[in-house]
Amino acid sequence: MAKRSGITRRGLFRGIGTATLVAGCTTQKAPPPEGPASSTPATGLGLTIGPGPAPLQFELNGEAVTTEAPPSATLLDTLRLSLDATGTKKVCDRGSCGACMVLVDGAPQNSCMTLAHDVAGRKVTTVEGLGKGHAGGLSPLQKAFVERDALQCGFCTPGMLISCSALLSRTGGSAPKTANIQDAISGNLCRCGTYPHIIAAVKSAAGGGA
Ligand code: FES
Ligand code: FES
Repeated sequence: MAKRSGITRRGLFRGIGTATLVAGCTTQKAPPPEGPASSTPATGLGLTIGPGPAPLQFELNGEAVTTEAPPSATLLDTLRLSLDATGTKKVCDRGSCGACMVLVDGAPQNSCMTLAHDVAGRKVTTVEGLGKGHAGGLSPLQKAFVERDALQCGFCTPGMLISCSALLSRTGGSAPKTANIQDAISGNLCRCGTYPHIIAAVKSAAGGGA
């Protein structure tokens, strides 16, 4: 009787399977090391903060402020909940209405779409800061809004004022055209439909400063 080979079909497949399994295991990447550095996000500035609240400093309406915010906190929530700057309104909280608009280094920006730590070391102006240094605590633009009846419920007003202030800063006080004003407030929604009054207020404030 012929002697059977020492290698059987079953033995061959079992051997291949084991070899594949071993190869698979040895090519897997080792898991990242445990520890704070592996679980913390990096900011755009290359700094690593969090995951808990981290110190934050910036200039708010001309004054240096120091607070704490987790890496995921929005500028809007930090202003309203930590710094008591509630003039900035939270309406959609997703960048579509403009009620939360603030100036960051002079440029209008939706604070609900801005991470608080992204304004570290920068200048933020909210509606509370627009009237600073003006008689009666209101800028000419704010006075014009009152005189021209440019608000009803007022929820859009802080954001409108911020956008229009930025426009008047850009024009250097000269009166903008209607199209320019419409363009400037294109990211601000007014559910009460006060747009014609807002445009009239901006035109009347032009020349008197933002
Ligand atoms: S609350 Fe920020 S855009 Fe609406
Ligand atoms: S005044 Fe009510 S949303 Fe503009």
